[in-house]
Amino acid sequence: MPLERTFSIIKPDATRRNLTGKINAKFEEAGLRIIAQKRIHLSKAQAGVFYKVHAERPFYDELCQFMASEPIICQVLEGEGAISKNREVMGATNPADAAVGTIRADFAESVGENSVHGSDAPETAAEEIAYFFSGLELVG
Ligand code: CMP
Repeated sequence: MPLERTFSIIKPDATRRNLTGKINAKFEEAGLRIIAQKRIHLSKAQAGVFYKVHAERPFYDELCQFMASEPIICQVLEGEGAISKNREVMGATNPADAAVGTIRADFAESVGENSVHGSDAPETAAEEIAYFFSGLELVG
């Protein structure tokens, strides 16, 4: 497995419930290293740009509203096969389908308020990291 970087968000439903440490522990226990991290509060417009691929979906407005509702934690996770490893640790998008012990099974409230986001491919990881972090912030 190659060393990879992936982009992660701890979403407003999780920051509101003070779950940042518990979620970070799951990343670290899985061998993912948090090499960059910051807490920010997105505007709805900034959330809209990030999720532009979903612009035609019926839930897009609700999704952007939610992502701008409270602070989020943006992260870069590094590790062997980090993109697929992170998706395993997160569990399925809908917490009702998420495997036992995954972040979404343990913490997510619904398919919309599902605690975490993770990149789905190397190209999207690079694009998402660049949207939130400068090269100077990626110290490895
Ligand atoms: P995420 O991995 O961040 O990528 C897109 C997000 O859209 C997804 O997690 C969910 O939070 C959200 N989403 C997907 N399907 C639905 C849905 N049916 N209703 C509301 N939100 C959804």
